[in-house]
Amino acid sequence: MPTGSFKMIFVRSELMLSRTPPMGFNTWNTFGENINESVIKETADAMVEKGLLEAGYNYLVIDDCWSERERDPETGKIVPDKIKFPNGMKAVSDYVHSKGLKFGMYSCAGTRTCADYPGSFDHEFLDARTFAEYGADFLKYDFCYKPNVANGPLLYRKMGMALKASGREILFSACNWGNDEVNTWIRSAGAHMYRSTGDINDSFPSMRDISLSQIDNLAYSAPGCFNDIDMLTIGMYGEGNVGSSGCTDIDYKTQFAVWCMFSAPLMLGGDIRNLNDKMLELVKNKDLIRINQDEEGRPAFCTTGSREAKSFVKLLSDNEIAVLLVNFGESDAHVEFYFENIGIPAASGYGLEMRDVFTGKNLGVKKEFMRRKIAAHDCECYICKLAK
Ligand code: GAL
Repeated sequence: MPTGSFKMIFVRSELMLSRTPPMGFNTWNTFGENINESVIKETADAMVEKGLLEAGYNYLVIDDCWSERERDPETGKIVPDKIKFPNGMKAVSDYVHSKGLKFGMYSCAGTRTCADYPGSFDHEFLDARTFAEYGADFLKYDFCYKPNVANGPLLYRKMGMALKASGREILFSACNWGNDEVNTWIRSAGAHMYRSTGDINDSFPSMRDISLSQIDNLAYSAPGCFNDIDMLTIGMYGEGNVGSSGCTDIDYKTQFAVWCMFSAPLMLGGDIRNLNDKMLELVKNKDLIRINQDEEGRPAFCTTGSREAKSFVKLLSDNEIAVLLVNFGESDAHVEFYFENIGIPAASGYGLEMRDVFTGKNLGVKKEFMRRKIAAHDCECYICKLAK
Protein backbone atom coordinates (compact mmCIF):
# COMPACT_ATOMS: atom_id res chain seq x y z
CA MET A 1 0.00 0.00 0.00
CA PRO A 2 1.44 3.45 -0.85
CA THR A 3 2.46 5.62 2.09
CA GLY A 4 -0.26 8.14 1.24
CA SER A 5 -2.98 5.61 2.01
CA PHE A 6 -1.48 4.83 5.40
CA LYS A 7 -1.53 8.49 6.20
CA MET A 8 -5.15 8.71 5.20
CA ILE A 9 -6.17 5.84 7.47
CA PHE A 10 -4.31 7.42 10.38
CA VAL A 11 -5.98 10.78 9.89
CA ARG A 12 -9.45 9.23 9.65
CA SER A 13 -9.08 7.28 12.87
CA GLU A 14 -7.83 10.40 14.66
CA LEU A 15 -10.96 12.14 13.54
CA MET A 16 -13.39 9.37 14.44
CA LEU A 17 -15.95 10.67 16.87
CA SER A 18 -16.32 8.59 19.98
CA ARG A 19 -13.11 6.61 19.59
CA THR A 20 -13.23 6.51 23.39
CA PRO A 21 -16.25 7.15 25.65
CA PRO A 22 -17.37 10.80 25.31
CA MET A 23 -16.76 13.01 28.36
CA GLY A 24 -18.36 16.27 29.37
CA PHE A 25 -21.20 17.87 31.27
CA ASN A 26 -24.98 17.84 30.73
CA THR A 27 -27.42 20.32 32.28
CA TRP A 28 -30.30 17.96 33.10
CA ASN A 29 -29.35 16.40 36.46
CA THR A 30 -28.75 19.69 38.23
CA PHE A 31 -30.61 22.35 36.30
CA GLY A 32 -33.60 20.71 34.59
CA GLU A 33 -35.62 23.56 33.10
CA ASN A 34 -33.62 26.22 34.96
CA ILE A 35 -31.09 26.76 32.21
CA ASN A 36 -30.07 30.03 30.63
CA GLU A 37 -27.16 31.76 28.96
CA SER A 38 -25.44 32.71 32.24
CA VAL A 39 -25.63 29.20 33.66
CA ILE A 40 -24.05 27.82 30.49
CA LYS A 41 -21.33 30.45 30.38
CA GLU A 42 -20.52 30.04 34.07
CA THR A 43 -20.39 26.28 33.62
CA ALA A 44 -18.07 26.65 30.63
CA ASP A 45 -15.80 28.93 32.66
CA ALA A 46 -15.80 26.48 35.58
CA MET A 47 -15.02 23.49 33.36
CA VAL A 48 -11.87 25.22 32.23
CA GLU A 49 -10.85 26.84 35.54
CA LYS A 50 -11.29 23.62 37.51
CA GLY A 51 -9.16 21.63 35.10
CA LEU A 52 -12.01 19.47 33.84
CA LEU A 53 -11.41 20.28 30.19
CA GLU A 54 -7.77 19.40 30.68
CA ALA A 55 -8.83 16.10 32.26
CA GLY A 56 -10.84 15.27 29.12
CA TYR A 57 -14.35 16.62 29.83
CA ASN A 58 -14.80 18.54 26.60
CA TYR A 59 -18.53 18.51 25.77
CA LEU A 60 -20.95 20.97 27.36
CA VAL A 61 -24.46 19.75 26.54
CA ILE A 62 -27.71 21.67 26.97
CA ASP A 63 -30.51 19.18 27.67
CA ASP A 64 -34.30 19.63 27.47
CA CYS A 65 -36.21 22.93 28.03
CA TRP A 66 -34.02 25.24 25.92
CA SER A 67 -36.61 26.24 23.29
CA GLU A 68 -39.84 28.12 22.96
CA ARG A 69 -42.94 25.95 23.39
CA GLU A 70 -43.78 26.11 19.66
CA ARG A 71 -41.84 26.24 16.40
CA ASP A 72 -41.62 29.44 14.39
CA PRO A 73 -44.81 29.33 12.30
CA GLU A 74 -43.05 30.81 9.27
CA THR A 75 -39.75 28.96 9.11
CA GLY A 76 -40.91 25.82 10.93
CA LYS A 77 -37.70 25.95 12.94
CA ILE A 78 -37.33 25.31 16.66
CA VAL A 79 -36.60 28.64 18.35
CA PRO A 80 -34.45 29.12 21.45
CA ASP A 81 -36.35 30.46 24.48
CA LYS A 82 -36.06 34.22 24.16
CA ILE A 83 -35.85 34.82 27.89
CA LYS A 84 -33.40 32.04 28.74
CA PHE A 85 -31.24 32.63 25.66
CA PRO A 86 -31.83 36.26 24.62
CA ASN A 87 -28.85 36.26 22.24
CA GLY A 88 -29.81 33.01 20.54
CA MET A 89 -27.93 29.70 20.55
CA LYS A 90 -25.11 30.61 18.18
CA ALA A 91 -23.87 33.17 20.71
CA VAL A 92 -23.89 30.54 23.45
CA SER A 93 -22.16 28.04 21.22
CA ASP A 94 -19.53 30.63 20.23
CA TYR A 95 -18.82 31.29 23.90
CA VAL A 96 -18.50 27.58 24.67
CA HIS A 97 -16.17 27.13 21.68
CA SER A 98 -14.10 30.14 22.73
CA LYS A 99 -13.26 28.21 25.91
CA GLY A 100 -11.98 25.25 23.90
CA LEU A 101 -15.07 23.19 24.69
CA LYS A 102 -17.52 21.49 22.34
CA PHE A 103 -21.17 22.39 22.30
CA GLY A 104 -24.09 19.96 22.67
CA MET A 105 -27.81 20.29 22.01
CA TYR A 106 -30.88 18.16 22.76
CA SER A 107 -33.97 17.10 20.86
CA CYS A 108 -36.41 14.22 20.74
CA ALA A 109 -37.47 11.58 18.20
CA GLY A 110 -41.15 12.11 19.07
CA THR A 111 -43.48 15.04 18.42
CA ARG A 112 -42.61 16.70 21.77
CA THR A 113 -39.65 16.44 24.10
CA CYS A 114 -40.09 14.77 27.47
CA ALA A 115 -40.67 18.17 29.08
CA ASP A 116 -43.19 19.08 26.34
CA TYR A 117 -41.20 21.29 23.99
CA PRO A 118 -41.18 20.71 20.20
CA GLY A 119 -39.65 17.36 19.18
CA SER A 120 -37.97 16.60 15.86
CA PHE A 121 -40.47 14.01 14.55
CA ASP A 122 -40.96 14.72 10.83
CA HIS A 123 -38.55 17.69 11.11
CA GLU A 124 -35.32 15.70 11.38
CA PHE A 125 -33.41 17.22 8.45
CA LEU A 126 -34.48 20.80 9.22
CA ASP A 127 -33.57 20.44 12.89
CA ALA A 128 -30.20 18.82 12.17
CA ARG A 129 -29.40 21.78 9.91
CA THR A 130 -30.52 24.18 12.62
CA PHE A 131 -28.22 22.51 15.15
CA ALA A 132 -25.38 22.69 12.64
CA GLU A 133 -26.11 26.43 12.23
CA TYR A 134 -25.79 26.82 15.98
CA GLY A 135 -22.36 25.18 15.72
CA ALA A 136 -23.44 22.10 17.67
CA ASP A 137 -20.94 19.25 17.99
CA PHE A 138 -23.24 16.84 19.83
CA LEU A 139 -26.92 15.96 19.78
CA LYS A 140 -28.71 14.05 22.51
CA TYR A 141 -31.83 12.51 20.98
CA ASP A 142 -34.61 11.45 23.35
CA PHE A 143 -37.64 9.17 22.87
CA CYS A 144 -40.77 10.78 24.36
CA TYR A 145 -44.05 11.36 22.46
CA LYS A 146 -43.25 8.84 19.74
CA PRO A 147 -46.38 8.38 17.62
CA ASN A 148 -47.59 4.76 18.06
CA VAL A 149 -47.36 4.07 14.35
CA ALA A 150 -43.75 5.23 14.12
CA ASN A 151 -40.91 2.71 14.15
CA GLY A 152 -38.46 3.60 16.94
CA PRO A 153 -35.26 2.32 15.30
CA LEU A 154 -36.19 4.05 12.03
CA LEU A 155 -36.54 7.38 13.83
CA TYR A 156 -32.95 7.05 15.03
CA ARG A 157 -31.79 6.05 11.55
CA LYS A 158 -33.48 9.19 10.19
CA MET A 159 -31.76 11.52 12.60
CA GLY A 160 -28.49 9.68 11.95
CA MET A 161 -28.88 10.47 8.24
CA ALA A 162 -30.02 14.04 8.92
CA LEU A 163 -26.90 14.69 10.99
CA LYS A 164 -24.73 13.34 8.20
CA ALA A 165 -26.49 15.72 5.79
CA SER A 166 -26.15 18.67 8.17
CA GLY A 167 -22.72 19.72 6.95
CA ARG A 168 -21.19 19.43 10.43
CA GLU A 169 -19.66 16.59 12.34
CA ILE A 170 -22.09 16.06 15.19
CA LEU A 171 -21.77 13.34 17.79
CA PHE A 172 -25.06 11.44 17.91
CA SER A 173 -26.14 10.52 21.43
CA ALA A 174 -29.25 8.31 21.28
CA CYS A 175 -31.49 8.13 24.32
CA ASN A 176 -34.30 5.56 23.99
CA TRP A 177 -33.70 4.15 27.48
CA GLY A 178 -32.89 0.64 26.23
CA ASN A 179 -36.10 0.12 24.21
CA ASP A 180 -36.41 -2.09 21.11
CA GLU A 181 -33.24 -4.05 22.06
CA VAL A 182 -31.33 -0.91 21.24
CA ASN A 183 -27.87 -2.47 21.60
CA THR A 184 -28.53 -4.73 18.59
CA TRP A 185 -29.13 -1.96 16.02
CA ILE A 186 -28.11 1.44 17.34
CA ARG A 187 -24.53 1.24 16.09
CA SER A 188 -25.88 0.66 12.57
CA ALA A 189 -27.94 3.87 12.89
CA GLY A 190 -24.76 5.91 13.26
CA ALA A 191 -25.05 6.69 16.98
CA HIS A 192 -21.85 7.29 18.93
CA MET A 193 -23.38 6.51 22.32
CA TYR A 194 -26.77 5.18 23.40
CA ARG A 195 -28.69 5.24 26.64
CA SER A 196 -29.48 1.73 27.76
CA THR A 197 -31.42 2.48 30.92
CA GLY A 198 -34.11 4.66 32.44
CA ASP A 199 -33.23 7.91 34.18
CA ILE A 200 -30.80 8.01 37.06
CA ASN A 201 -31.56 9.91 40.24
CA ASP A 202 -29.13 10.95 42.92
CA SER A 203 -29.40 7.93 45.20
CA PHE A 204 -27.35 4.78 45.70
CA PRO A 205 -30.22 2.38 44.76
CA SER A 206 -30.67 4.18 41.44
CA MET A 207 -27.02 3.91 40.46
CA ARG A 208 -26.79 0.33 41.83
CA ASP A 209 -29.79 -0.88 39.81
CA ILE A 210 -28.56 0.83 36.64
CA SER A 211 -25.12 -0.74 37.07
CA LEU A 212 -26.42 -4.25 37.76
CA SER A 213 -28.87 -4.02 34.82
CA GLN A 214 -26.03 -3.66 32.31
CA ILE A 215 -23.76 -6.52 33.39
CA ASP A 216 -24.96 -8.67 30.49
CA ASN A 217 -24.55 -5.77 28.05
CA LEU A 218 -20.98 -4.77 28.79
CA ALA A 219 -19.74 -6.10 25.47
CA TYR A 220 -22.14 -3.81 23.58
CA SER A 221 -19.90 -0.83 24.22
CA ALA A 222 -16.97 -0.31 21.92
CA PRO A 223 -15.02 2.35 20.02
CA GLY A 224 -17.44 4.26 17.82
CA CYS A 225 -20.54 3.63 19.98
CA PHE A 226 -20.64 3.35 23.76
CA ASN A 227 -23.31 2.14 26.18
CA ASP A 228 -24.48 5.22 28.09
CA ILE A 229 -25.71 4.44 31.61
CA ASP A 230 -26.76 8.08 32.13
CA MET A 231 -25.20 11.23 33.45
CA LEU A 232 -23.23 11.03 36.68
CA THR A 233 -24.74 12.49 39.86
CA ILE A 234 -21.36 13.00 41.53
CA GLY A 235 -21.35 16.01 43.86
CA MET A 236 -25.13 16.60 43.81
CA TYR A 237 -25.72 15.49 47.43
CA GLY A 238 -29.47 15.39 46.84
CA GLU A 239 -29.74 18.90 45.37
CA GLY A 240 -30.95 19.82 41.91
CA ASN A 241 -33.36 18.46 39.32
CA VAL A 242 -32.77 14.73 39.89
CA GLY A 243 -31.61 15.18 43.47
CA SER A 244 -33.25 12.41 45.44
CA SER A 245 -32.05 11.07 48.78
CA GLY A 246 -28.54 12.09 47.72
CA CYS A 247 -25.36 10.02 47.94
CA THR A 248 -22.36 9.84 50.24
CA ASP A 249 -18.81 10.41 49.07
CA ILE A 250 -18.30 6.62 49.15
CA ASP A 251 -21.35 6.18 46.89
CA TYR A 252 -19.92 8.71 44.42
CA LYS A 253 -16.54 6.98 44.49
CA THR A 254 -18.22 3.71 43.52
CA GLN A 255 -20.38 5.40 40.90
CA PHE A 256 -17.34 6.85 39.18
CA ALA A 257 -15.34 3.61 39.34
CA VAL A 258 -18.24 1.61 37.87
CA TRP A 259 -18.84 4.10 35.02
CA CYS A 260 -15.12 4.06 34.23
CA MET A 261 -14.90 0.29 34.30
CA PHE A 262 -18.05 -0.11 32.16
CA SER A 263 -16.53 2.13 29.42
CA ALA A 264 -19.55 4.40 29.88
CA PRO A 265 -19.61 8.00 28.64
CA LEU A 266 -18.56 10.26 31.52
CA MET A 267 -21.09 13.09 31.45
CA LEU A 268 -20.95 15.03 34.69
CA GLY A 269 -24.34 16.09 36.05
CA GLY A 270 -23.44 17.89 39.27
CA ASP A 271 -23.12 21.68 39.36
CA ILE A 272 -19.56 22.17 38.13
CA ARG A 273 -19.43 25.65 39.65
CA ASN A 274 -19.79 24.16 43.14
CA LEU A 275 -18.10 20.77 42.96
CA ASN A 276 -16.05 20.34 46.12
CA ASP A 277 -12.36 19.47 46.01
CA LYS A 278 -12.90 15.85 46.93
CA MET A 279 -15.37 15.30 44.08
CA LEU A 280 -13.15 17.19 41.67
CA GLU A 281 -10.22 15.01 42.62
CA LEU A 282 -12.41 11.93 42.11
CA VAL A 283 -13.60 12.82 38.61
CA LYS A 284 -10.08 13.82 37.62
CA ASN A 285 -8.50 10.57 38.87
CA LYS A 286 -6.06 9.82 36.08
CA ASP A 287 -6.01 6.06 36.55
CA LEU A 288 -9.79 5.77 36.49
CA ILE A 289 -10.01 7.98 33.42
CA ARG A 290 -7.29 5.88 31.84
CA ILE A 291 -9.37 2.73 32.48
CA ASN A 292 -12.41 4.43 30.92
CA GLN A 293 -10.58 5.92 27.96
CA ASP A 294 -8.33 2.98 27.17
CA GLU A 295 -7.69 3.03 23.45
CA GLU A 296 -8.40 -0.64 22.89
CA GLY A 297 -11.91 -0.12 24.27
CA ARG A 298 -12.29 -3.69 25.50
CA PRO A 299 -15.34 -4.38 27.61
CA ALA A 300 -15.11 -5.32 31.26
CA PHE A 301 -16.50 -8.68 32.30
CA CYS A 302 -18.00 -9.74 35.58
CA THR A 303 -15.97 -12.58 37.09
CA THR A 304 -17.76 -13.83 40.16
CA GLY A 305 -19.81 -12.52 42.92
CA SER A 306 -23.02 -12.84 44.83
CA ARG A 307 -25.93 -10.63 43.84
CA GLU A 308 -24.32 -7.64 45.45
CA ALA A 309 -20.60 -8.41 45.84
CA LYS A 310 -19.21 -8.10 42.34
CA SER A 311 -15.82 -8.21 40.74
CA PHE A 312 -15.03 -6.91 37.26
CA VAL A 313 -11.94 -7.24 35.08
CA LYS A 314 -11.05 -5.19 32.01
CA LEU A 315 -8.02 -5.76 29.78
CA LEU A 316 -6.19 -2.53 28.99
CA SER A 317 -3.60 -1.64 26.41
CA ASP A 318 0.10 -2.00 27.38
CA ASN A 319 -0.67 -5.40 28.91
CA GLU A 320 -2.31 -3.84 31.92
CA ILE A 321 -5.43 -5.22 33.55
CA ALA A 322 -7.99 -3.27 35.56
CA VAL A 323 -9.80 -4.92 38.45
CA LEU A 324 -12.81 -3.48 40.26
CA LEU A 325 -14.33 -5.01 43.38
CA VAL A 326 -17.67 -3.54 44.43
CA ASN A 327 -19.93 -4.12 47.38
CA PHE A 328 -23.36 -3.00 46.16
CA GLY A 329 -24.89 -4.32 49.40
CA GLU A 330 -25.93 -2.67 52.65
CA SER A 331 -23.41 -4.31 55.00
CA ASP A 332 -19.74 -5.30 54.91
CA ALA A 333 -19.04 -8.11 52.46
CA HIS A 334 -16.18 -10.19 51.15
CA VAL A 335 -15.66 -9.63 47.44
CA GLU A 336 -13.55 -12.33 45.87
CA PHE A 337 -12.53 -13.98 42.65
CA TYR A 338 -10.25 -16.77 41.53
CA PHE A 339 -7.54 -15.82 39.04
CA GLU A 340 -8.24 -19.15 37.34
CA ASN A 341 -11.61 -17.70 36.30
CA ILE A 342 -10.06 -14.73 34.53
CA GLY A 343 -7.55 -16.84 32.61
CA ILE A 344 -4.62 -17.06 35.02
CA PRO A 345 -4.30 -20.66 36.26
CA ALA A 346 -2.11 -21.27 39.31
CA ALA A 347 0.01 -23.66 37.23
CA SER A 348 1.08 -20.77 35.00
CA GLY A 349 3.07 -19.38 37.92
CA TYR A 350 1.67 -15.94 37.20
CA GLY A 351 -0.16 -13.63 39.49
CA LEU A 352 -1.11 -9.96 39.41
CA GLU A 353 0.97 -7.09 40.66
CA MET A 354 -1.68 -4.69 41.87
CA ARG A 355 -1.68 -0.93 42.34
CA ASP A 356 -4.62 0.70 44.11
CA VAL A 357 -5.91 3.57 41.95
CA PHE A 358 -7.37 5.46 44.91
CA THR A 359 -4.36 5.34 47.24
CA GLY A 360 -1.55 4.72 44.77
CA LYS A 361 -0.38 1.88 47.07
CA ASN A 362 1.27 -1.14 45.48
CA LEU A 363 -0.11 -4.36 46.99
CA GLY A 364 2.68 -6.46 45.52
CA VAL A 365 2.03 -9.66 43.58
CA LYS A 366 -1.17 -11.56 44.48
CA LYS A 367 -1.65 -15.12 43.33
CA GLU A 368 -4.51 -17.59 42.85
CA PHE A 369 -7.28 -15.57 44.40
CA MET A 370 -8.26 -12.18 45.67
CA ARG A 371 -10.51 -11.71 48.66
CA ARG A 372 -11.16 -8.32 50.18
CA LYS A 373 -13.50 -7.20 52.89
CA ILE A 374 -15.30 -4.15 51.54
CA ALA A 375 -17.69 -1.86 53.40
CA ALA A 376 -21.27 -1.32 52.20
CA HIS A 377 -21.44 0.66 48.91
CA ASP A 378 -17.65 0.90 48.73
CA CYS A 379 -15.24 -0.41 46.11
CA GLU A 380 -11.57 -1.07 45.45
CA CYS A 381 -9.98 -0.62 42.08
CA TYR A 382 -6.59 -1.73 40.82
CA ILE A 383 -4.44 -1.43 37.75
CA CYS A 384 -2.45 -4.65 37.48
CA LYS A 385 0.31 -6.30 35.54
CA LEU A 386 0.96 -10.00 35.11
CA ALA A 387 3.92 -10.96 37.29
CA LYS A 388 5.62 -14.07 38.69
C1 GAL B 1 -35.47 11.85 29.65
C2 GAL B 1 -33.99 11.55 29.52
C3 GAL B 1 -33.24 12.43 30.47
C4 GAL B 1 -33.53 13.88 30.16
C5 GAL B 1 -35.03 14.14 30.17
C6 GAL B 1 -35.38 15.54 29.68
O1 GAL B 1 -36.18 11.08 28.76
O2 GAL B 1 -33.78 10.19 29.78
O3 GAL B 1 -31.86 12.15 30.44
O4 GAL B 1 -32.98 14.19 28.91
O5 GAL B 1 -35.70 13.21 29.35
O6 GAL B 1 -36.74 15.77 29.70
